[in-house]
Amino acid sequence: MKAVKDHYFKKAKAEGFAARSAYKLQEIDQKHRLLKNGNRVLDLGCYPGSWMQYISQKIGPNGRVIGIDRTELRIALKDNMGFIHSDIDDLDLESPDLRDSSFDLVCSDMAPNSTGIKNVDSERSFHLCQSALYIASHKLRKSGFVLLKSFHGSTFDRLVRQMKSEYQEVRIIKPKSSRDESKEIFILGNRKQHTFKQQTP
Ligand SMILES: C[S@@+](CC[C@H](N)C(=O)[O-])C[C@H]1O[C@@H](n2cnc3c(N)ncnc32)[C@H](O)[C@@H]1O
Repeated sequence: MKAVKDHYFKKAKAEGFAARSAYKLQEIDQKHRLLKNGNRVLDLGCYPGSWMQYISQKIGPNGRVIGIDRTELRIALKDNMGFIHSDIDDLDLESPDLRDSSFDLVCSDMAPNSTGIKNVDSERSFHLCQSALYIASHKLRKSGFVLLKSFHGSTFDRLVRQMKSEYQEVRIIKPKSSRDESKEIFILGNRKQHTFKQQTP
């Protein structure tokens, strides 16, 4: 992995965040006011945990953030944090941490392992976004936000169309703290469409 010791990398180290990614979420949150005191949040693809750290601070002791990743999390969990060690496709939505909950924000920073083949990476990223949308269709409050990281590749327009059919407001966001050369882009959906039916797997 390229060790880019850029501004955000150094800032994350100094401020105790597990990764520079925290600033992407911070930027999106500050602009779109995603997180409020007491919120319940599902963080998909949470390792190494910088989004969880940022979210935990913002939602305070009455909120709860549950992170999910196929890699075991190593940061110390605060009282308002929970972690489920699972691949997203094997996630049990009826597990005790998820069964009775509806969430204010479902966010996904999930990324597939890069093959270097654009269309393959794009399809894999699309698949992860589909899984995140499926979970959001079951677990997000009607007025809640869904935030997805995607590649700006061949599947991007399909994903945006799908999100527009499921959410009343859809925005495309490229945070300043995302490296210029990165193909990543975020899509934010808010307020489920009235006609939106829960998907089946
Ligand atoms: C860019 S990292 C997330 C960084 C995190 N948001 C942070 O701030 O620390 C992407 C994560 O997605 C996870 N991931 C990718 N595919 C996954 C899958 N199918 N199921 C669960 N996690 C997955 C990876 O294990 C990796 O930890």
